[in-house]
Amino acid sequence: MKLNIRTKSENYVVYIKRDLLNDLSNYIKEYKKEKILIITDENVANIYINEIKKTLKDFKIDFHIISPGEKSKSLNTSKDIYDKLLYGKYNRRSLIISLGGGVIGDLAGFVASTYMRGIDFIQIPTTLLSQVDSSVGGKVGINYNNIKNIIGSFYQPKKVLIDPETLKTLDLKNLKSGLSEVIKYGIIRDYDFFKMLKMEIDIIKSLNIDKMENIIKKSLEIKEEIVYLDTYENDIRKILNFGHTIGHGIESLNDFQRFTHGEAIALGMISEAYISRELGYISSDYYCEIKYLLNKIISDVKFTREEKQEIIKNLENDKKNTNKDIVFILPINRGEVRIFYKGIDRSLIIKSLGADR
Ligand code: NAD
Ligand code: GLY
Repeated sequence: MKLNIRTKSENYVVYIKRDLLNDLSNYIKEYKKEKILIITDENVANIYINEIKKTLKDFKIDFHIISPGEKSKSLNTSKDIYDKLLYGKYNRRSLIISLGGGVIGDLAGFVASTYMRGIDFIQIPTTLLSQVDSSVGGKVGINYNNIKNIIGSFYQPKKVLIDPETLKTLDLKNLKSGLSEVIKYGIIRDYDFFKMLKMEIDIIKSLNIDKMENIIKKSLEIKEEIVYLDTYENDIRKILNFGHTIGHGIESLNDFQRFTHGEAIALGMISEAYISRELGYISSDYYCEIKYLLNKIISDVKFTREEKQEIIKNLENDKKNTNKDIVFILPINRGEVRIFYKGIDRSLIIKSLGADR
């Protein structure tokens, strides 16, 4: 299936097709004469590199393989890639392909957006999280000084190529991490979708590829609608960050080693839904519904007092904040959230991190 993505700068197509990787040459044939650098990580390379080499045997490809994990979304890794591009004589007609999860997509996209003021870039997302979220919408970037995505740009890929079969090699932890962003779409925009996820979560976790294809499509339709309205995140696009205010604070703990992005966001969504209930915006029933579904992705975590302080410190660095106020996206109804630019008490944020929520 095909999805048209409209943004304020350019439009492109997302292809979602089983076994697309075996047919990759057809999707990138316009680059046959150009140099192509495929950026990936060791885990993904171990599984897919031979298949890619075979299908692209008539293309001028090279690989840049990095260590897996959030720590690689860095200036140092970017520098290594710039060096490879420069000494390999890549130019404005060359292509960068990201083959991997959100770490690879964000990093490769950032390098593509800055090398020679921008060269073509194609996303091949291989985790659920990157298939339903990070590969579309043009947010690319790296972490710096332990602050998530603080250096980056908006840079749209030329196309996004999704092969849902790649999910078969993903471990359950990372599958659940992606489901966290899927549930987010239901909470922010579509209660029917949320209800379906609640009913079918156990089948979904067992990786039914037909279901996954539909879930990927539905998630991207919701994302597209929002990105089209507000590509540069001046307003409504902020709602895609539901769970991320507290979630980014949690993700940064222990040098990004403790939680996956999706796990941290799931915990952030529970805390932020709790805040919403405490402020009277949503009922206890709806809060319990949200918590029930997210606890299928991650069990509650007991943070120490020091960890709670560190989370607060981390979230004060959030890019969405204006002055000293911390910006929150809170559910206000089933399938509906609102942006709160101020007024959320720090003591309530601390309380929302308690294990007795
Ligand atoms: P990731 O890229 O670290 O991938 C998770 C793990 O899965 C890695 O160990 C990777 O090697 C492995 N992997 C990838 N594909 C695989 C496959 N098919 N089979 C087996 N293993 C595979 O993490 P992620 O969860 O995909 O992405 C998280 C990142 O995405 C974070 O940095 C987050 O900030 C970013 N993000 C960006 C956006 C955006 O709009 N740009 C949106 C959401 C998240
Ligand atoms: N993942 C948040 C966004 O794309 O805006």
